[in-house]
Amino acid sequence: MVAGLLVLVVLVLGGQKAGWWAQPETRAPYPPTPAALAFAEMQRAEQARAAAAEAENARLAAVQTPAETEEVLPAGHGRAETFANCTACHSTAIIRRSGLTRERWDALMDWMVEKQNMTPLEPDMRVLIVDYLASAFPARQSNPRARNPFLSN
Ligand code: HEC
Repeated sequence: MVAGLLVLVVLVLGGQKAGWWAQPETRAPYPPTPAALAFAEMQRAEQARAAAAEAENARLAAVQTPAETEEVLPAGHGRAETFANCTACHSTAIIRRSGLTRERWDALMDWMVEKQNMTPLEPDMRVLIVDYLASAFPARQSNPRARNPFLSN
């Protein structure tokens, strides 16, 4: 018992002397040099710029409508030609919302030329496009315009 206590005391005192329980020596870090400070500031500014640019891109992506491709039109013979000739001035939305007989589509080509300054289509091209339009966007029974007594056409 006494011998055990003695060993313990020797161990504690010896350990203390050997620095077993001592705090590791801490040394104050060197103060950063002006160049290091300037570099850190540059990095912070660069990160802030990148974050701002990313936020702006995300905001734009949320409000921009992606460019249309011809796949927005129903598949059919003449789709590519219709897309190429009919999207210079407006999107396809104005076409897709329409439903007309072949005669009305054909007349619309004249209207587009006379009133909207469209370059007249070559005769073959016009037939191809009007055929496509008439089959892809035929006159609809439920066309609200056909029923609305307050609209003349
Ligand atoms: C030179 C420019 C131009 C081209 C090319 C053009 N359009 Fe148009 N289109 C217009 C304008 C302008 C309007 C009127 C838009 C408005 O009223 O806000 C219009 C309107 C329309 C409308 C809506 C008509 C209505 O009042 O319901 C349809 C459908 C249409 N275009 C189809 C076509 C098709 C199909 C083609 C390809 C053959 C075509 N457009 C090519 C300029 C053009």
